[in-house]
Amino acid sequence: MSSPASEASRRRTFAIISHPDAGKTTLTEKFLLYGGALNAEAGSVKARSGRRSATSDWMGLEQQRGISITSTVLQFPYRDCVVNLLDTPGHRDFSEDTYRVLAAADAAVMVLDAAKGIEPQTLKLFDVCRQRELPLLTFINKWDRPGLDALELIDEIESKIDLVVTPVTWPVGIAGDFRGVIDRRDGQFTRFTRVARGATEAPEEVVDPTVAAVEEDEAWTAAQDELALLDSVGADMDVELFVGAQSTPTFFGSALTNFGVRKLLDAVIDLVPPPGPRPDVDGEPRSLDAPFSGFVFKVQANMDPSHRDRIAFLRVCSGEFDRGMVVTHGPTGKPFNTKYAHQVFGSERETIDLAYPGDVVGLVNATDVRVGDTLWFGDPVEYPSIPSFAPEHFTVARVRDTGRYKQFRRGIAQLDEEGVVQVFRDADLGDQAPMLAAVGPMQFDVAVYRLEQEFGAPVELSPTNYRIARRTDPPSAEALSGMRGVRVLSRADGTLMALFESQYWLERLEQDHPDLVLERLVAEGSAG
Ligand code: G4P
Repeated sequence: MSSPASEASRRRTFAIISHPDAGKTTLTEKFLLYGGALNAEAGSVKARSGRRSATSDWMGLEQQRGISITSTVLQFPYRDCVVNLLDTPGHRDFSEDTYRVLAAADAAVMVLDAAKGIEPQTLKLFDVCRQRELPLLTFINKWDRPGLDALELIDEIESKIDLVVTPVTWPVGIAGDFRGVIDRRDGQFTRFTRVARGATEAPEEVVDPTVAAVEEDEAWTAAQDELALLDSVGADMDVELFVGAQSTPTFFGSALTNFGVRKLLDAVIDLVPPPGPRPDVDGEPRSLDAPFSGFVFKVQANMDPSHRDRIAFLRVCSGEFDRGMVVTHGPTGKPFNTKYAHQVFGSERETIDLAYPGDVVGLVNATDVRVGDTLWFGDPVEYPSIPSFAPEHFTVARVRDTGRYKQFRRGIAQLDEEGVVQVFRDADLGDQAPMLAAVGPMQFDVAVYRLEQEFGAPVELSPTNYRIARRTDPPSAEALSGMRGVRVLSRADGTLMALFESQYWLERLEQDHPDLVLERLVAEGSAG
């Protein structure tokens, strides 16, 4: 039997981030195609996600909006490795969700549309990666279509995200006239061959440079000039800088026609670090071969109305996960039976019997389990919690029909636990009119939709003028409670939050009362 450490060395766990429409879904399909997890009919991911929406009520909202809110996990073999691909919601309003998913990833692939470069939502998502210091690979997609100049794109990425861009492949032919790519590591030229919508792997024809120079003529000369320029500025791939999240190895391609996908997937295997010993709350790394442990990075309820249950997604950090083992739920110390462990893709589930560090397990009916919780076996361990994002939108929710108040309360508590929105309560008003707080307003749409569809409790929202939240403590809360333009509320875990209408007002208060405790939350002000 292999050890957890040797199994971990075969794992690559990463996420794809992109602005909607840049090609995340297409690239995911193609990864599956190259991983042999899809038959030649690529497109099954879309077909599957279509089915998923059809069987799921609240995900109807995803269909209406054409966005992805839920995230899922895909596992497939590639070469001698096991790849865990964590899906992230594309819309920046759900960047807190992305942040949690990235807590479970060892790297990310950023997909850019060659015609658009860095788009606002990519920037927000990238900020999230930066906060987690995640190594980042960049894929410049849609090179088969007219787009920006390759060097300009590199410049734009460097200036907008402040990472050194180290192109690993370089295109021959401008965007829209894609001839192929030169691999800067060995100088090999791979010619681009168009396949109908990329239903099969792209044929890879390696062409001798002397032949390519003649056949590709001006496009070849232009690429050589650009490569000379890149060499002169030393934009070479450096694994250490990549792992240290200071540079991003960059690839050109076209996910639709599969071109460049294999090189990218190979880079995931060759460059992305395998899971390592994860530091606990005290910074002490837990050995991969220690008994089982993991932490929950996402909780999702009612993914499938016919199940009406609640799934906690756990990333395994150490040891072997054996379905059926009874583990301890860290925060409560209660035993937790893992009999119902699944691999989850939307509403589709497969029982998972064994898992190793880097893998993701979906634990069904995980009542009481929240995002950030540690589960362990044998030796106790506690992993750092996942910090919550600074909300920037605040609205008061009230149930429309007071006869549905019980359902409303239950629904609000559920959404709070899942982290769909953050819920702040006023000690005096109790649960009557909780304040919902979000990073992006679309989170409110999801909350309203779910309260109505799942809990039968239609609500009315009253927007407020609050824009900033700070964590505070009881003495400061007392001092603040009499002040103008501030409101102090509490979260379910007892944390006190002070809300302010403007940065100016907050700064004035800080100046006038320097002894007040007003702590920032993560991702403050990056909502751009
Ligand atoms: P997303 O998940 O990031 O939102 O993007 P998705 O993969 O759904 O791709 C968005 C659109 O871009 C799709 O077209 C897709 O076919 C197209 N696309 C993705 N990669 C490439 C590429 O490399 N080259 C070209 N030319 N197009 C690409 P659509 O018209 O919206 O959908 P569909 O009808 O083609 O499925």
